[in-house]
Amino acid sequence: MCGIAAYYGKRSAVPILLDALKVLEYRGYDSCGLAVYDGKIRYVKTVGKVSELLKKSGELPDSASIGIAHTRWATHGRVTVSNTHPHFDCKKRIGIVHNGIIENYQSLKKFLEGRGHKFRSRTDSEVIAHLFEEMLRNYPEEEAFINSVKLLEGAFAIVALYGDKLFLARKSSPLVIGIKDSEFFIASDTVAISRHTDKFIFLDDNEVGIIRDRNLEIKNLDGFDVNKEIKRIKRTEEEIDRGRFETFMLKEIFEQVETVENAYKGRVDFKAAVPVFGGIDFDKIKKFRRIILFACGSSYNAGLYAKYLFDRFFDCHVEYASEFKYADKKISKRDLLVAISQSGETIDVLEALRKYKEKALASLGIVNVVSSSIAREVDAGIYLHAGREIGVAATKTYTSQLLTLFLFWIYLARKFNYIDFATAKRYIDELKKLPGKVGSVLKREMEIKKLARKYVKFGNALFLGRKFNYPTALEGALKLKEISYVHAEALSAGEMKHGPIALVDDRFYSVFIVPHDSITDKVINNMEEIKARSGKIIAVTTKGRSLKQIKRLSDDVIVIPGTKEEFLPVLGIVPLQLFAYHIARLKGLDVDKPRNLAKTVTVE
Ligand code: M6R
Repeated sequence: MCGIAAYYGKRSAVPILLDALKVLEYRGYDSCGLAVYDGKIRYVKTVGKVSELLKKSGELPDSASIGIAHTRWATHGRVTVSNTHPHFDCKKRIGIVHNGIIENYQSLKKFLEGRGHKFRSRTDSEVIAHLFEEMLRNYPEEEAFINSVKLLEGAFAIVALYGDKLFLARKSSPLVIGIKDSEFFIASDTVAISRHTDKFIFLDDNEVGIIRDRNLEIKNLDGFDVNKEIKRIKRTEEEIDRGRFETFMLKEIFEQVETVENAYKGRVDFKAAVPVFGGIDFDKIKKFRRIILFACGSSYNAGLYAKYLFDRFFDCHVEYASEFKYADKKISKRDLLVAISQSGETIDVLEALRKYKEKALASLGIVNVVSSSIAREVDAGIYLHAGREIGVAATKTYTSQLLTLFLFWIYLARKFNYIDFATAKRYIDELKKLPGKVGSVLKREMEIKKLARKYVKFGNALFLGRKFNYPTALEGALKLKEISYVHAEALSAGEMKHGPIALVDDRFYSVFIVPHDSITDKVINNMEEIKARSGKIIAVTTKGRSLKQIKRLSDDVIVIPGTKEEFLPVLGIVPLQLFAYHIARLKGLDVDKPRNLAKTVTVE
């Protein structure tokens, strides 16, 4: 999704901005641009990669020490140079970069055109520059900017370059200011600027920032000063380094040995066999009667996994955040809301949280990115501790979500005495074996690569599983779709016979997640149904009494280590991540930045 970078200081702005854009590439984009101020605004824009922008940037003055930059992920208007940010007012005295969507841009544009403004793009963003220009006719700069922001509806993070000053605004879309002496680094994501500083101010909704005369002021929309806390966030070099791996996605798949451990390390009282969540006040949440999990994409799949756990003892619902926020669901002081989001910025999740949180008993966030909007807006947050995920496709954060949700379930089950010490201890003992078991699945990479070679020509795939393995089927299909562009569908294996089985012929293959658990025999029946119709089968299974039968029914088999039923999804997804990865690589695709996708989805 779109990325913003800006700089105000004493060094040459162009290399700092290009470097930040390079880091923001992981979010996904299709064009980029950069503007600096050096007595007047000068700029370059391009469709395509930051490396193209770098080639053009020689046209810009080295002496400019203030500027703005942007990677655009098209929403309003096609991918063209004229639609690429920065956008300008009529006289090119104001340059703006914007993330989000201005929902009332059409009426604003009509009004501004009526006042003689000439537009150069088809974007919603350009209205911001003209609106600021229009306001400057009647108001001093600070008031003009605030008055412009007040007229905008929708979601936005904005940086405007006007003379040798920067004007910032935020509503629902993240914007952070990094501070180092009298230098200011602004970005939509701390990772873009964290090599320069570890001191950050996060702009909150309806706040503006003004940087002028080497000074930063934060104000609310009434023009009053706002005191902001400076947060310290440390960066580790390896976060944006691929190390020995050819892609970030592969590195992140392999990191799961450590991230799985990080998900429970320091969070479990092994003696008492109970997880400890420092931020959660159990006395506050214990009156809940219903748990509502909401999320999007992979995070939703993790939520669905958790539903199978919570359903055992509690009334649990799992919702797509994009549906939930418009659902007008009856929420009461007996509801515990749980927002799940790797980035902590997904707008659908954030807006659903905002809509319901006051009505609910409490809101929790299961989030990876520290200090993200969702982490800051929930009553209590549980971090994944998975480290920055750069690959657009969620991999390590997904398995961390599964385990974090598992720990939260067992925490509640222990607190309410639904699970005794001995049972909990058996789970915790097995938990400690998971990193090693993930490691042994990863050792099968070459075998899985071979399998990818065999199936790379197929244009359709079905992923099938039941109970805890149904979310694994959904997540396996999502991986294949998003990075290798293969049409893949996931179903609960029991649903096949109700229609989708009509699809099956020898041009389809089905991936069955069929480990030895409480439902193996039922899934084997579903495999028979596919086999009877000449469908090809890949089975992901464990050693056990039905292995022979599973092998007989399958064209190919991947054997993963056995574990408790509740942990099978953690191991089961790893070969599917590798399978999708190798299919995509064999097709020569850019797995870290798949087409049309964004890492952080900050538009509806
Ligand atoms: O940051 P979030 O977890 O809120 O993101 C939700 C989805 O956008 C995300 O999981 C998406 O589906 C990924 N591309 C999955 O690989």
